[in-house]
Amino acid sequence: MYCLNPSPIMTDRLETIRTLYDARAPTYDTEVGFHPHQGADYLKWMPLSPGKNALDLACETGAITIPSSKEVAPSGTVFGVDISPASPSIARDKATNHSLENATFVDHDIGALHDVEKIEEGMFDVITCASAFVLLADPGSAVKSWAKLLKEVFCRELKKMAGP
Ligand SMILES: C[S@@+](CC[C@H](N)C(=O)[O-])C[C@H]1O[C@@H](n2cnc3c(N)ncnc32)[C@H](O)[C@@H]1O
Repeated sequence: MYCLNPSPIMTDRLETIRTLYDARAPTYDTEVGFHPHQGADYLKWMPLSPGKNALDLACETGAITIPSSKEVAPSGTVFGVDISPASPSIARDKATNHSLENATFVDHDIGALHDVEKIEEGMFDVITCASAFVLLADPGSAVKSWAKLLKEVFCRELKKMAGP
């Protein structure tokens, strides 16, 4: 797996990602490439149903988050998190246009979710992270922290990461 080198000045690295994706956000939904297809596959495979809680990491403009929030409505909730403020801002507008009150979008680093208000351990049925894993400085630590956010961890390796 290729990972960007952890920079001694992490804020610079995150700032670069933020700037790149802020610029890309307004046209992201019109891009042709593998992202829309991959997003559609995620939606096909995800075990979502009304009442489930989902977390979409690196949500960009909500390609996965918005359809997910329709699937889990009315009692289930969906959080979308992205470091580029322009992306969740577009996703928020989509949620408003679709009257999706169960979708919350947060501008934050998905590698450090511990200080995000309302995101707590053991609260999610499903966590997705499409096309962003390679952008993380320390993907292993990130997955370890995400595993703790799941209600139940079915995968043995993830279970080890999440601890007792
Ligand atoms: C290629 S896009 C993928 C978007 C979406 N998941 C999809 O499949 O269409 C990558 C996204 O990852 C976000 N990202 C990269 N590193 C991040 C980080 N550390 N924290 C939060 N978001 C991050 C970028 O801002 C960008 O929106």
